[in-house]
Amino acid sequence: MTETVSSELPGQEFPVARGCPFAEPEEYTRLRERKPVSKVRLHGGEQAWWVSGHTEARAILADRRFSSDRRKDNYPNPSGDPRFRERFRNQPPPMVSLDGAEHAAVRRSVLSEFTAKRLAALRPRIQQIVDGFIDDMLASDSRPVDLVQTLSLPVPSLVICEMLGVPYRDHDYFQSRTAAMIRRTAPPEERLRAFDELQAYLADLLARKESEPGDDLYSRQIAQQREQGAPDHERLVSTATGLLVAGHETTANMISLGVLALLEHPGQLALIKADPGNTPLAVEELLRYFTIVETAISRVATEDVEIGGVTIKADEGVIVSGLSANRDPAVFENPAELDLTRGARHHIAFGYGPHQCLGQNLARVELQIVFDTLFRRIPGLRLAAPTDDIPFKTNAPVYGAYELPVTW
Ligand code: HEM
Repeated sequence: MTETVSSELPGQEFPVARGCPFAEPEEYTRLRERKPVSKVRLHGGEQAWWVSGHTEARAILADRRFSSDRRKDNYPNPSGDPRFRERFRNQPPPMVSLDGAEHAAVRRSVLSEFTAKRLAALRPRIQQIVDGFIDDMLASDSRPVDLVQTLSLPVPSLVICEMLGVPYRDHDYFQSRTAAMIRRTAPPEERLRAFDELQAYLADLLARKESEPGDDLYSRQIAQQREQGAPDHERLVSTATGLLVAGHETTANMISLGVLALLEHPGQLALIKADPGNTPLAVEELLRYFTIVETAISRVATEDVEIGGVTIKADEGVIVSGLSANRDPAVFENPAELDLTRGARHHIAFGYGPHQCLGQNLARVELQIVFDTLFRRIPGLRLAAPTDDIPFKTNAPVYGAYELPVTW
């Protein structure tokens, strides 16, 4: 007989929007306290397992019996609109949606571009980029300025453009398409159109690189595929889109939120100002504290799996709540507190297991350089609006701030 498990919090749809930017929704806390793996109802009515315990989250993300394939019927779809799942069925899925050997092959093809050694070599250029945008901020007569537009978005966008071989002059176009794609409150057809437009833009760019290669990741991908036969255009576009989107949007959100948290916790900010040697640990704690990729880490069980006192059945969808796992008191003492000195390295803000973030070394270097440089060069930086007035991305798979007015 099949056991039917119903929603642990009936009447509540998931994911729940964050109220305070510094806290997890209290529904998440309640679920974790009751059951680290519970059934919930998603917006749109589908049910899925909600994983909020740190141990269970890591176990699932490391377990090959859970698939990342977004084309599967029960892959959690918090938007509730079936067109998103359909869209993935018509083209090669992005790396993050592949399993097993197919996933390993695509990941391997770009891995050497993101090693810690490669990123260490990029440090001087990233420093130069950060200094350049801060020079522009300081030279501007108008204040307050919006940190999102002056620093948070430009830095990772220019860095990823140079790595991939995307002309930075097109930044307004790809940034706006990305923003439209992931805004859950926008009509689905608008989001899908933005996705198609971004892919068409990249297909065109890649076609030009086939005849005029540059010294960049996209050109090296084309060359690699030529060595193995003819370039697979659809695969190239799919990987290219994933890298461009993930490479700027996530880090941009972390820059804004990190600056906000540091300004709101002056005692903690003093630790970074006193010694930049503290920044690497501080970045780990900020990543844990915000866990911006909140519900995009989903899976589908490929067989029955017992975990956290329940049986997740084959074909059932699972959402791993990184935000909740990273606030599990069994692993992080006083998890609601921002403590830059805590060793938070075992957080799962970059995921865990075979899909653990490919760009994590890049994100870390960017965040460390931005926080060190910004507060050193503009020591009087302060918020120009109360936190309550800042518009947050409460309805997107990646949390962040739409605007962050600052002055000095
Ligand atoms: C603070 C910034 C970032 C955060 C919080 C973040 C978070 C994540 C998370 C949670 C995953 C795992 C998804 C899963 O398991 O389903 C992931 C995967 C990924 N990230 Fe990031 N990311 C960041 C920056 C970047 C950057 C800068 C890049 C650069 C290209 C990038 C590229 C990727 C790719 C390609 C994957 C898929 C890896 C795979 O499937 O093997 N990310 N990221």
